[in-house]
Amino acid sequence: MAVPEKILREVDMLRREIEHHNRLYHSQDAPEIPDADFDALLRRLEELETKNELFDETSPSQRVGGEAVAGFTQVRHEIAMLSLSKVFDEADLQSFESRLKKRLETQTRIQYSCEPKVDGIAVSLLYKDGMLERAATRGDGVTGEDITHNVRMISSIPLQLKPQKKDTVIEIRGEIFLDKLGFKKLNETSEKEGGKIFVNPRNTAAGAIRQLDPRKSAKIPLRMYCYSIGLVEGIKLPKALSEIFALIEKWGLPVNPDRSVENGVDACLKYCLALLAKRNDLSYEIDGAVLKVDNVELQQQLGTNARSPRWAMAYKFPAEEQSTTVLDVEFQVGRTGTITPVARLEPVFVGGVTVSNTTLHNMDEIERLGVRIGDRVIVRRAGDVIPKVVKVIPHEGSKKIREKPISIPETCPACASAIEKDGDVLYRCSGGIICPAQRKESIKHFASRSAMDIEGLGHKLIELLVNKEVITSVAGIYTLTLEQLVGLERMGDKSAANLVAAIDKSKQTTLPRFLFALGIREVGEATALQLATHFGILESIIAADLTSLVKVPAVGPVMAEHIRVFFTNKNNVALIEQLQDSGVTWPIIEPSNDDLAKPLLGETYVLTGSLEQMPRSEAKAKLISLGAKVAGSVSKNTSCIVAGPGAGSKLTKAEELGIKILNEGEFIVLLDDLIT
Ligand code: IVH
Repeated sequence: MAVPEKILREVDMLRREIEHHNRLYHSQDAPEIPDADFDALLRRLEELETKNELFDETSPSQRVGGEAVAGFTQVRHEIAMLSLSKVFDEADLQSFESRLKKRLETQTRIQYSCEPKVDGIAVSLLYKDGMLERAATRGDGVTGEDITHNVRMISSIPLQLKPQKKDTVIEIRGEIFLDKLGFKKLNETSEKEGGKIFVNPRNTAAGAIRQLDPRKSAKIPLRMYCYSIGLVEGIKLPKALSEIFALIEKWGLPVNPDRSVENGVDACLKYCLALLAKRNDLSYEIDGAVLKVDNVELQQQLGTNARSPRWAMAYKFPAEEQSTTVLDVEFQVGRTGTITPVARLEPVFVGGVTVSNTTLHNMDEIERLGVRIGDRVIVRRAGDVIPKVVKVIPHEGSKKIREKPISIPETCPACASAIEKDGDVLYRCSGGIICPAQRKESIKHFASRSAMDIEGLGHKLIELLVNKEVITSVAGIYTLTLEQLVGLERMGDKSAANLVAAIDKSKQTTLPRFLFALGIREVGEATALQLATHFGILESIIAADLTSLVKVPAVGPVMAEHIRVFFTNKNNVALIEQLQDSGVTWPIIEPSNDDLAKPLLGETYVLTGSLEQMPRSEAKAKLISLGAKVAGSVSKNTSCIVAGPGAGSKLTKAEELGIKILNEGEFIVLLDDLIT
């Protein structure tokens, strides 16, 4: 019996709607409907398909709920999946091109397809008559594993190529990966649910793709970028790789948008360096760039050697993960007495710098990692994010080598006062002002660039001044004399005079800087600015009660409490008076707690690239004080982006979306207009 038209229409509509939500969920990380609603749509589709025998293997109902498979079937790649030769510097990239020219007996410039080297898992997708028939891992290059059941769950990989391709076989190769946002969200959810913490996107993707149960793998929002073609039958492909990419993109396959065609190796090098500069801003992890001769005929002429094609080369970027040994763990005392465990590491080159120590944050983190002194660990440093121990490498040999567990000391390593527990995870030195470590840290903070900005009063000098008891608090800075300084180690007449001048100069400050410099718990630059603009004068902040403090945007009850505690302490008020008596002063600010003084209210700004005339934190604080929100990524809701030198993908996206773009100069003019 024919299926009624009405049912067919509903099935068609459901399939499209589910595909749409699949795309939002898996590719854009922006679901519009709750999971339960999505499940209801899917159940309705399954019901209609079963009742009316409307089976279709391209239906989204086929992407979910597959049964676990018993094991992996081995797959033999008809054409071996090769790997890439790699270089690490410019000179080796130049010799790569020289070798190519020699082999091709040409002096003409070679055209290359340049692509990011995505850090994921290499896979092969086999389409027969345009339908996804089989997906396999690379394996050893000759034999891989059948992972079709998992790949069918990846919503950005088409089950069917458009338009239909009768009598064809096309093997597409590429990299399956988990993007940075997907990884972050996965860990956030897993942490909330008390599940395991995933170490990095690549391993997570590798684990997901080799999951036996496709329902588990479907929980990881995998993506793919296609980068080459394997077996081809029954279809003629274009003569350049770049054209092939354009074609397969039309078929519905995902191809990396950050690729580019470049002429000659110098242009390729520029591409590589630009890619390296925007590495942090990319939504996915990369470990280098790949250069491929674009012309397919030339590729064939060059051929391959045993492991890799002669026509391609990977330009590797510094690795973001390395293994090293934990030599020791020390406990540092912060400005407010917080005790932080810091791992001393065997120095290791990671993410472009040598790392020899890293914070372990707190005792919970030590327990979560299961780290002990002597362990081999994986250290990760991605972009300019501080290095982090992400994992302990399990021991091959006996457990005896792991001899030293890490425990919190009973007394402060700096002043021997008792260490007290503060909340669930924090420990604090109870010494307060008598603790030299707390004193040093608060002086370092006071003198720092974003606070009183005292040039020449660096960490080493502060350590020395406190150790020798030349100064005991921040007020001591303003009593320092030339004679006292000249007598110190490695301090010449000139630097002593410069320092005295810098100290004197720092007396002319601003209220937000001064407030921030005081080091009140939780009060960062942005809050200090808000407090200053809201109350106008310091006396009002000192006198403010909790109710008036929480009226300041961004001041919550906890922060308000910290501010109250600080200003009800007589020593702190006396210290402020002492500083003012020494000549520390600032211009009066007009208090502005109404929306009229917030001309950017409702606008969202994004800061990208480097700013040369003010620290990014200051730019952010100023925008917030004017009522704007400051976001980390560009979307259609962005009102304006401020792009400094080195701006990358955020700038490109803003251009695409037609969003207002300001350079640093224009931004400063805007601030000047709005703030005064
Ligand atoms: S081309 C014939 N292009 O890097 C050349 N590989 O050893 C085959 N990779 O296992 C690779 N991004 O998984 C190529 N744009 C890209 C790539 C890429 C990542 C991986 C690939 C391979 C490894 C190189």
